[in-house]
Amino acid sequence: MIVVTGATGHLGRLVVDELLRRGVPAAELAVVVRTPAKAAGLAELGIDVRAGDYTEPANLAAAFAGAERLLFVSATGPNSERVTSHRSVVEAAATAGVGSIAYTSIADADKNPIELADVHRDTEAAIVASGLPYTLLRNNWYFENYTATLAGAVERGGIVGAAGNGRLAAASRADFAAAAAVVLTEAGHEGKVYELTGDSAWTMAELAATAAAHSGTPVAYTDLPAEQYAAVLADVGLPPYMVDLLVDADLKIAEGALADVTDDLRTLIGRPTTTLADAVADALS
Ligand SMILES: NC(=O)c1ccc[n+]([C@@H]2O[C@H](COP(=O)([O-])OP(=O)(O)OC[C@H]3O[C@@H](n4cnc5c(N)ncnc54)[C@H](OP(=O)(O)O)[C@@H]3O)[C@@H](O)[C@H]2O)c1
Repeated sequence: MIVVTGATGHLGRLVVDELLRRGVPAAELAVVVRTPAKAAGLAELGIDVRAGDYTEPANLAAAFAGAERLLFVSATGPNSERVTSHRSVVEAAATAGVGSIAYTSIADADKNPIELADVHRDTEAAIVASGLPYTLLRNNWYFENYTATLAGAVERGGIVGAAGNGRLAAASRADFAAAAAVVLTEAGHEGKVYELTGDSAWTMAELAATAAAHSGTPVAYTDLPAEQYAAVLADVGLPPYMVDLLVDADLKIAEGALADVTDDLRTLIGRPTTTLADAVADALS
C-alpha cells in the first residue's frame, strides 16, 4: 500500500495521478487528507480516502496504517506551526511502522539560508532520527509560483520581485510529482537525498523576456526594494507571515539560494525537465 498525504493539493494530486498512470492499482493506494470531502473524486476512483490532519496527531498513526511507502507532502502555514505538525507526522509514521517515508523538502535544505528552509531542515532531522527508511525529495521552486499569475502580469506589462539577478533552478510540479512517483514505486531510493531541480536555471528578467517573446507584447521585470515588494504582496491579500517568507526568499534567491542545477530530477524521471519556454507557453496558452 502506498499512502500519499496532501492529495487535495496541487502536488499530491499530481503524484496520485502519476502513480495511477504508472499502473499502481487504485486499491493499492490511500490518501490522507484533512478534508475528505475534497477528495471525493479520488474515492470514486477506488482510492482509500483517510482523514488526517497534521495538527491532530492522535489520528495520524491510524491513518498511516498499512503504508509500505508513505509520501509526506509538507504542509502550508507559518514555520512555527509546521515544525510542530511536521514532527507529529513523523512520529505518527514511526508509530504506524510505515515501511519507508519520502518527504517533499526544499533545495539544499541542510544549508539553504531561505527562512522557509528552517522547517524542512527540522523535519528532515526528525525523519532521520526516527530510524525509518527515508528518501528526501528536495524540491527547488515550482515554475507555477510564477506561471500561475503570468497571464495577468503580461496584461499589466510587467513582473515584480526582489530576486535581482538570482537564478532559479525551478521545475514544474508535474516533474517533481513524477519524481516522487518513481521513488514510491521503484526500489533503491532508500537513504537517498535528491536535489531536484530543472535542467537549467533562469533569472526573473529571463522569465519576463520569455513571456514577452511568447505573448508578442513587452513584459519587463522590475526589481523592487524589499519594503516595496512586501507592499505589493500584502496588496494582493497574502497573510503577513507569507509576505515575510516570500520577501526573504527573494532576497536569498538574489544571493543564489536556488541557483544550483543538478541531474537528479532528469535522472529520476528519465527525461529532460520541462523548459521555461514550455512552461510559459503552457501558462499563456
Ligand atoms: N517548491 C515550491 O516552490 C513550493 C511552493 C509552494 C509550496 N511548497 C510546499 O510544497 C507543498 C505542496 O505544494 P502544493 O503546491 O501541492 O501546495 P497546496 O496545493 O497548497 O497543497 C498543500 C496540501 O497540504 C495539505 N495540508 C496543509 N496543511 C495540512 C495539515 N495541517 N494537515 C494535513 N494536510 C495539510 C493541504 O490540504 P487542504 O487541501 O485541506 O488545504 C493540501 O492538500 C506545500 O504544502 C508547501 O509545503 C513548495
